[in-house]
Amino acid sequence: MHQLSLLAALLGTTLAQAPNTRTVFQFPKPTWLENIATTRTGHLLTSVLNRAPAELHIVDPSAIYNASTANATLLHAFPGVNTVFGISEYAPDLFAVAVGNYSPATGATKGTYAVWSVDVSSLASSSSSSAKPTSKVRKLASLPNASVINGIAALNKDAILIADSFAGSILRLDISSGRTHTAINDSTTAFASPLGVNGVKVSHATDPPTLYYTNSGLNATFAAPVDPRSGNLVGKPVIVAANEATPDDLAVTDDGTAFFARPYAGTLTRARAGVEAVIVAGAEGSMELGGATSATLGRAWGDRGVVYVATMGGFDSEGGYAEGGKIVAVNVGR
Ligand SMILES: *[C@@H]1O[C@H](CO)[C@@H](O)[C@H](O)[C@H]1NC(C)=O
Ligand SMILES: *[C@@H]1O[C@H](CO)[C@@H](O)[C@H](O)[C@H]1NC(C)=O
Ligand SMILES: *[C@@H]1O[C@H](CO)[C@@H](O)[C@H](O)[C@H]1NC(C)=O
Ligand SMILES: *[C@@H]1O[C@H](CO)[C@@H](O)[C@H](O)[C@H]1NC(C)=O
Ligand SMILES: *[C@@H]1O[C@H](CO)[C@@H](O)[C@H](O)[C@H]1NC(C)=O
Repeated sequence: MHQLSLLAALLGTTLAQAPNTRTVFQFPKPTWLENIATTRTGHLLTSVLNRAPAELHIVDPSAIYNASTANATLLHAFPGVNTVFGISEYAPDLFAVAVGNYSPATGATKGTYAVWSVDVSSLASSSSSSAKPTSKVRKLASLPNASVINGIAALNKDAILIADSFAGSILRLDISSGRTHTAINDSTTAFASPLGVNGVKVSHATDPPTLYYTNSGLNATFAAPVDPRSGNLVGKPVIVAANEATPDDLAVTDDGTAFFARPYAGTLTRARAGVEAVIVAGAEGSMELGGATSATLGRAWGDRGVVYVATMGGFDSEGGYAEGGKIVAVNVGR
């Protein structure tokens, strides 16, 4: 064979076999990973639903873990509650995390919801990547008025937007006063069984900023311009994707492309207003992304084209969990 065609054949084989997804880390069964966020050091923060004390984990996607070492990735456990929900960076290295009680069997417990701050600045100064990172944690506010907390998104360093999936509204938490009020409550955020507004992300690539959000019960993903301080709508929401059943949480790139996870379908969908949505990874009936709950963009130089997806482990035929929740790197080639 001619050398060039041999090279082409070899390259062709390599490209055709290059996997689109890679499992970064899998937790024991059962572990329901609820949300995921990336630090500027490229670490992944991920949260666990329905296991007390509520766990926030940190995973280095470039590390190889000894899976039999218990709690190797545990960053912090929040006493008195069983779930960490949304995670969002509100100032450099400061992550807001929503906590409270929730179980798929018994639902939400009003009065248990709160937002805490987790400082991961030690990651950047840590000399050894194998050393277990430490964090400083403090409570920002209790949210006695929330029906439940789900996805959260920092609006700016002073305010967090919070999806209340049962009230069907988006709350704004003022960090300095600890007070919340309803910022958005319309037909796009409204409760629709099983959950109304679910995942939320704020993009500052536009002026005013754009809020992206999913509504699980409406099978829809929306984008809307919001006031940079109040979080109130300053324009009409537009549909980013419709008829994509039960979207959960999402990641958004600066050009307005949303990547959202769908737990029942077990897929990651790429969507943009005015463009037909496409599944970029996973498939119904496959465990590749079975139970996908949330997504975050890679931030390290080596993983700019990667979307990290967290899963809750998928469902087996008896309604139990198929496997332990995991983090999967999806190469979207952006
Ligand atoms: C993983 O951890 C277990 C328990 O601490 C230990 O027995 C085992 O040798 C470790 N495996 C590796 C490859 O380090
Ligand atoms: C892991 O951490 C959780 C939360 O603090 C704790 O309840 C559990 O006992 C730990 N497991 C082990 C084996 O240390
Ligand atoms: C809860 O709602 C009430 C009535 O709207 C309001 O007065 C109070 O400030 C709210 N509490 C918090 C902590 O935001
Ligand atoms: C949201 O709007 C609905 C319908 O207008 C209303 O019934 C409900 O009280 C509002 N909820 C909040 C938290 O403002
Ligand atoms: C959302 O999708 C589910 C599953 O396909 C379907 O049963 C439900 O009727 C849809 N809801 C809406 C509001 O379209």
